[in-house]
Amino acid sequence: MKTAVVFYSHDGNSKFIAKQIKSQTGADLIQLYTKDEKKRGKFASILWGCAMVFMNKKPPLKPYDFDPSPYDLIVFGAPVWAASPAPPIKTFLSQTVITGKKIALFVCHAGGKEDALDKFKALLSGNEIISAADFKNSLKNIEEAQQQTSDWIKGW
Ligand SMILES: Cc1cc2nc3c(=O)[nH]c(=O)nc-3n(C[C@H](O)[C@H](O)[C@H](O)COP(=O)(O)O)c2cc1C
Repeated sequence: MKTAVVFYSHDGNSKFIAKQIKSQTGADLIQLYTKDEKKRGKFASILWGCAMVFMNKKPPLKPYDFDPSPYDLIVFGAPVWAASPAPPIKTFLSQTVITGKKIALFVCHAGGKEDALDKFKALLSGNEIISAADFKNSLKNIEEAQQQTSDWIKGW
């Protein structure tokens, strides 16, 4: 299965999971970056990110090169921000049409994912969602996250 992982990661947790998927499946990685990728303190990052969720903003992304057509499976990953997938993923999906694809989804969070996976699935309606997973504090539990990722991949 030719696989791509399209992901956004602010603090490295989603990137860690994306890299695990690459190492186990040979997937291509497409990392999204906002144009406004400033180094902010923790509190400022939370304010900035939550404000984008609450105002339903789609932050502009740095240019990326992604053609979905050759891929059998596209995995999307993002951190949970204010109980939603982080808005840069929404920007991506508003400018790149993804339809009729097999999709796997993951979110990274700190214990409050709420209905973020359902919101993520809704952003990808028109596709076949084959699997969805959430990872809690991946970088604090590296071995557990590695094991969870490989168990997850086996179920695809
Ligand atoms: C703006 C912002 C909002 C967040 N909101 C939540 C939340 O609602 N629930 C939660 O469990 N964690 C929340 N977090 C924590 C992140 O989801 C968590 O640290 C995640 O692992 C980060 O993934 P990343 O390292 O790929 O950016 C938030 C973090 C930020 C920066």
